[in-house]
Amino acid sequence: MNPAPARALTEPSTILRLLDSWSATGRPLGLIEYLRYHGPVPRPVRALIEFVEEAGLTGRGGAGFPTGRKPRAVAEGRCRAVVVANAMESEPLSRKDQTLLATVPHLVLDGAVLAAQAVGADRIHLCLPRTRATQLHTLAAAVDERRSAGLDPLPIQVEALPHGYVTSESTAPVHWLGGGTARPTSSPPRTHQKGVRGRPTLVQNVETLAHVALIARHGADWFRQAGTAASPGTTLVTVAGAVHRPGVLETEPGTPVGTLLRQAGGPDQPLQAILLGGFAGTWLSAPQALGLPFSQEGLAPQSTPGAGVIAALPQDVCPLAETVRILAYLAAHPRPPRPPPAPDRPAARTRRLPPPRRRRPPRRQRPHHLPHRRRPPPAPRPLPTPHHPARPIRHPNGALDMTAADRETLRIDRIACTGHGQCAELLPELLTLDEWGYPVQHDGTIPPDLHAPAHRAVRGCPRLAVRTVRVVTLAVP
Ligand SMILES: Cc1cc2nc3c(=O)[nH]c(=O)nc-3n(C[C@H](O)[C@H](O)[C@H](O)COP(=O)(O)O)c2cc1C
Ligand code: SF4
Repeated sequence: MNPAPARALTEPSTILRLLDSWSATGRPLGLIEYLRYHGPVPRPVRALIEFVEEAGLTGRGGAGFPTGRKPRAVAEGRCRAVVVANAMESEPLSRKDQTLLATVPHLVLDGAVLAAQAVGADRIHLCLPRTRATQLHTLAAAVDERRSAGLDPLPIQVEALPHGYVTSESTAPVHWLGGGTARPTSSPPRTHQKGVRGRPTLVQNVETLAHVALIARHGADWFRQAGTAASPGTTLVTVAGAVHRPGVLETEPGTPVGTLLRQAGGPDQPLQAILLGGFAGTWLSAPQALGLPFSQEGLAPQSTPGAGVIAALPQDVCPLAETVRILAYLAAHPRPPRPPPAPDRPAARTRRLPPPRRRRPPRRQRPHHLPHRRRPPPAPRPLPTPHHPARPIRHPNGALDMTAADRETLRIDRIACTGHGQCAELLPELLTLDEWGYPVQHDGTIPPDLHAPAHRAVRGCPRLAVRTVRVVTLAVP
């Protein structure tokens, strides 16, 4: 299945907001033109967080989290906050963030500055994968243009991060910006409490920030004039695979999948299946998917829009082989490499130089009266490092003497979960809700007497975000 190119497809029949200027001019706007087109930014927008809450904007990075909640929590932090604009776009089939930054970079930068002012942040990091060298260069130039115009009251730093599937999860850029590796860290503490160098950090997808810039200009009611009551506004969707014009569309949530495929030129051959939501999404058969409204509520419970990806699979491609390819990609991308220490970033670990090698003096220089020293016999090789916390694994004649312990545990998909809390009501013994209304799991294992309520909580989750998995533990008897 081919990924879509990063190109904006603008349909005259749809409401365009983010891609409006692109549709009108066909080129990215410089700062002056941009301000003329969209109007100056009303600053400072003190009530921005309320506007965003009233507008019902949800995050466009994949999880669909209500955008008003995070800035409020960050603003309540005790020290100066940091804003991270997440343009990592690691979903291999998505091109929407890349397209947005190529077409209206100043809308994203405005949104980041407005969000930073609303939460009291003193710096903004715009994070992109370092593989997008040209875009990094263009964005650095756009930031310089704003700096020369004296537009932004706080610094914006364009950051080039290692590219990998998990380097875009919010804790990974936060860890990297603090001098660590671009790998997700455990949470809690959440980034809004303790993020970059321990400071409250607002991580927001770049499309979300562009919507914030428009809400600050036009208000919540204007934002709600598009979309559905549950998913207001417009949203960017990448249409990939077997269509005539793969690319990025701006659409209203709730538009049927079949209409979006038509707007991308229509299928270029008969379709058998459609992948909704990208690599972490769901395959549906083509007849099943085409009529579904593309929105969180419209795709539930089978799927979610994720980061807004629709990929069409033609009939002559084996879906199993495609799934294996996706799984192989995900398996190969568990961890990005450790970044080389830059001069301004302290190395995570200092390397010690090896001790100088001792040499035996030549025979004629050795004293004759000393007995010939033999190399001591090698020490017995230590047993392998124990994987089991209690005892080491033994290797008698290469045979492992192990028993398998089987248990059932819960897994929560943090992207799919919308935090409406039903699972914790059905299974309060194992799940409680955090201050955001998202389930937190307390005990890894489901005790036998809680199997029935646990399975009820799984069946009751409208987002299929909670499931049970069997874990087999190998232990030495
Ligand atoms: C594996 C994984 C990959 C993610 N990739 C992205 C991404 O590419 N871009 C993004 O904005 N958010 C991504 N997220 C979500 C971020 O963790 C975070 O929720 C998001 O940037 C918050 O912004 P939003 O609320 O505006 O969506 C990813 C999450 C996970 C678990
Ligand atoms: S029921 Fe599902 S969607 Fe609702 S909070 Fe629990 S896991 Fe999340």
